[in-house]
Amino acid sequence: MERSVLPCGPVGYVAAVPGDRMQTSQFEEGTTLDRYLLETMRTIGASGQFVNLMQSIALAAKMISSRVNRAGLSGMFGGTGDVNVQGEFVQKLDLYSNTTFLRAMEHGGHTGMVVSEENEEPVRTPEPFHSGKYIVTVDPLDGSSNIDVNATIGTIFGVFRRKTEEGTRAELSDVLRSGRDMIAAGYVVYGAGTVLVLATEFGVHGFTLDPSVGEFFLSHANIRIPKAGMYSCNEAYSPSWHPGVRSFLTHAKSEGWKARYIGSLVADFHRNLLKGGVFLYPATAKNPEGKLRLLYEGFPLAYIIEQAGGAATDGVSPILDRVPRSLHERVPLVIGGAEGVATATDLMKEDPPF
Ligand code: AHG
Ligand code: MN
Ligand code: MN
Repeated sequence: MERSVLPCGPVGYVAAVPGDRMQTSQFEEGTTLDRYLLETMRTIGASGQFVNLMQSIALAAKMISSRVNRAGLSGMFGGTGDVNVQGEFVQKLDLYSNTTFLRAMEHGGHTGMVVSEENEEPVRTPEPFHSGKYIVTVDPLDGSSNIDVNATIGTIFGVFRRKTEEGTRAELSDVLRSGRDMIAAGYVVYGAGTVLVLATEFGVHGFTLDPSVGEFFLSHANIRIPKAGMYSCNEAYSPSWHPGVRSFLTHAKSEGWKARYIGSLVADFHRNLLKGGVFLYPATAKNPEGKLRLLYEGFPLAYIIEQAGGAATDGVSPILDRVPRSLHERVPLVIGGAEGVATATDLMKEDPPF
């Protein structure tokens, strides 16, 4: 099929075969997130709601980033004293991030419902705001245990297009569905800098926040996970893992793989996405379904890694093939380079369930 090249202004050209997956051939330095979204979405005649959704997410990211960067000075360390639906102590920054993200989703007319780690029930867009066509799942602040020690933390989000009619009340059926229905996913990592990584059918791209300008600028175009030997897991739990997991680590060590573990999923994932590696949070007798949550940790990161040429399984089959039975369902997670994930899954799939 003749490849058509759609000029999209000074940012370069996007080669697109109508109806086929678009490949972003080039974007110049200095491309802002807004410009990337407008140029990419325009070529498919999008309605603009997705661009507005991403602009709302970017606003929430800027506000959370600003608060994270001065957490120690704005009384944001420590807990609120509350326990969330996960049975975890809510940190002040969890609460701030959740409130900020939910408010950013309310007014734009793009979102009908948000499923958040911090809310037991789904949060529907209130009247009089328009119940838009997207459903968002979010871990507003991932890596909470690292807040007070100034280690890297992040926000994770996934996007579905609703099944129910736009403008009506969104239903659970809009979100308790296969991960293969996800249409976009991303995360924001609050580290030495703040980087927003967005995955859509047009690839995986990273945008770095310039706080002096208040804009995200393209910094990591067309991210593809490299082949590299590195594993990332909390080996303190090794005695309670199944033999298959231990066999994989023995294999990795015999291959001379390095080990890195930050204890913030987003930080460990981001490093592996850029440098290569496999992250594992397996099931244990205490947590037979693992610790990480499917809708706002497993699905979004699995969507991103598959768009970047990697893989994600629950130790038996692809994460994105799962259909959640409940909003806060947990899932064992093996995610990263395709070859390493396949090796680990082959060893783990023989293990009996806990
Ligand atoms: P959250 O802060 O959103 O609850 O997520 C914490 C998760 C994840 O970020 C990380 O990979 C994992 O918890 C670390 O768990 P351990 O402390 O058990 O290693
Ligand atoms: Mn998390
Ligand atoms: Mn969290």
